[in-house]
Amino acid sequence: MFRIVILGSGTGSNAQALLRAEDQGLLGRGVITAVFSDVQNAPILKHRPSISSYLYPGAFRTKLDGEGQRQYIDTIQKQSVDLIVLAGFMRVIKPLFIEQFSGKIINLHPSLLPSFPGLDGIGQAFRAGVKITGCTVHWVTPKIDAGPIIDQEAVRIASDDTETTLAQKIHRAEHQLLVRVVRNIANPFSNT
Ligand code: GRF
Repeated sequence: MFRIVILGSGTGSNAQALLRAEDQGLLGRGVITAVFSDVQNAPILKHRPSISSYLYPGAFRTKLDGEGQRQYIDTIQKQSVDLIVLAGFMRVIKPLFIEQFSGKIINLHPSLLPSFPGLDGIGQAFRAGVKITGCTVHWVTPKIDAGPIIDQEAVRIASDDTETTLAQKIHRAEHQLLVRVVRNIANPFSNT
């Protein structure tokens, strides 16, 4: 069994995609054991009762304060987690957290990194007028959105796309990409 936890702040569509994949047996030995959020009533926390939910809001809006970070670290450590998936977690994770789980944290970003890092990767690409954008999963290092890239999925921007339709396309691509990456990490010797 390969234990996976998800951290997110928003709608949780990627968490849902992972849960669906697990139900369909697509994650192999990967098992999602808990979902963490920093936002009260975030939809990502509404899932099935068999999975633990943790709400640790913390004092700052854009980063974890010391106490908040401690709560995440302690709880995750107690669960002997193999992989931490950041799926729309909107607070900056500090080096202490990253060091504790070195090589075990991945992040999903809605652009083809290294293009358009940081906030609003979808809007940045749309406004720049690029014709191809996409999504990236990378290992988390202290430099934001700059860790080693694991895999990417490209999305073409059509002439009639709006930022809304582009976001929908990217989210669909993210769901496939994230499931593929998590399955591959959890099952390194499988070639399915
Ligand atoms: C995704 O677009 C992800 O790339 C970004 O935040 C969004 C989370 O969406 N980091 P959801 O909460 O999984 O629906």
